[in-house]
Amino acid sequence: MALWGGRFEGGVDAFTQEFGASLEVDKNMAQQDIRGSIAHATMLAEQGIISDEDRAAIVDGLTQISAEIEAGAFVWDVNDEDVHMAIERTLTERIGTAGARLHTGRSRNDQVATDIRLLAKDLCDELLESNHELRRVLADVAEANMDVVMPGYTHLQHAQPVLFSHHMLAYFWMFARDATRLEAARTAADANPLGAAALAGTTYPLDRARTTELLGFSRTIPNSLDAVSDRDYLLDLEYACAVSMMHLSRLCEEIVLWSSSEFGYITLSDSYSTGSSIMPQKKNPDFAELTRGKCGRVYGDLMALLTTCKSLPLAYNKDLQECKEGPLDAAHTLADCMAIMAGMLETMRVNEAVMLSQAGTGFSAATDVADYLAKHGMPFREAHAVVGHLVLECEKRGCGLEDLTLDELRAASSLFEADIVGSLDPAGIARARTTYGGTGNSAVAAQLAEARATL
Ligand code: ARG
Repeated sequence: MALWGGRFEGGVDAFTQEFGASLEVDKNMAQQDIRGSIAHATMLAEQGIISDEDRAAIVDGLTQISAEIEAGAFVWDVNDEDVHMAIERTLTERIGTAGARLHTGRSRNDQVATDIRLLAKDLCDELLESNHELRRVLADVAEANMDVVMPGYTHLQHAQPVLFSHHMLAYFWMFARDATRLEAARTAADANPLGAAALAGTTYPLDRARTTELLGFSRTIPNSLDAVSDRDYLLDLEYACAVSMMHLSRLCEEIVLWSSSEFGYITLSDSYSTGSSIMPQKKNPDFAELTRGKCGRVYGDLMALLTTCKSLPLAYNKDLQECKEGPLDAAHTLADCMAIMAGMLETMRVNEAVMLSQAGTGFSAATDVADYLAKHGMPFREAHAVVGHLVLECEKRGCGLEDLTLDELRAASSLFEADIVGSLDPAGIARARTTYGGTGNSAVAAQLAEARATL
């Protein structure tokens, strides 16, 4: 019999029951539901709405149920529509009328809103931990490869040499911003809807500030209609997850490219690679690809929730039951992907010599050769044109700028002296970019310290 048995003569058939249920997904917030109920019962007793004996029986019963769920020993009944009914029914079967008093001044509408907010806060905390771990790994990889020079790219064409550490730290800052977004999502979730009841508040003298305190929320939602119908904080969480997945997908793309034989910049460890069932030579970057691919489902989760909430009239609508799977999927997917990425980075081999030799190709010294002329008095625009012609000449001959003799260079401009050779060395080019945030070794060391300070 459903909890609303009094009003009904008939029941729904098995398929309809299953269709309307949210028990499966709700199991993810069973502990949050129990925390909410214990806080509600405690406040009811403090306000004299239920007796202290009833409160004690409720708290004992719920504590027992919590332990059983934790241990996997709790028996779920598919006839319960959701976690709220499953737990309340079991409690009442065990402790009798005290259990039947638990729902005084409460509705499943404020109950589910409370549970999801507690869950969202917990998910944010877990994600922030994984994010922190990933950033620690990025800082470690940057530190362990401080002098590795690689080609820096724009348009995926060689641009100027950069430090590999600088490249790694660029991702560090992306994930640092993701942490800020996750913190904002946590703050959005951190408000107590309990006491809103079905939609309008209640005639019982509830102390909402007290459940806010007991549940560790930082504030109480001031409007009961908004309290039961708001799911914005889940959008904030999903958006934070979507952006972080986008950042991961960019790094994955680079890992896929870098581990190809065309690049050869890194070698993934066997524990983060797979082979082929037919091609014996294959070593595929599956986990980078899969992480890149999972970006799609997290974007999908965000779009689904935006769409579910669109046009909903106040206050609670059953549509809102659809709001739970997406955020859970987005959060679990992101947590897994961050862990995979951390492991992949920590175990990969950085092929320093390959990166360095590539850094010297593709005319990536051209800017510095033009700067050389400009520093010797030629207006930069003229210098740009002189070096542009030299590059064109080299391309025709199939050689690099470093292959030109001093005489050939001096034919283009008499400002060239023997010390031009220094402007052609990729490591020197990178080292010289010492402005704040630049790729010079001293600037990157300072940046790494700044990055570490955020951890
Ligand atoms: N199972 C519902 C959900 O997940 C709980 C709230 C149901 N409230 C209601 N009036 N039907 O959203």
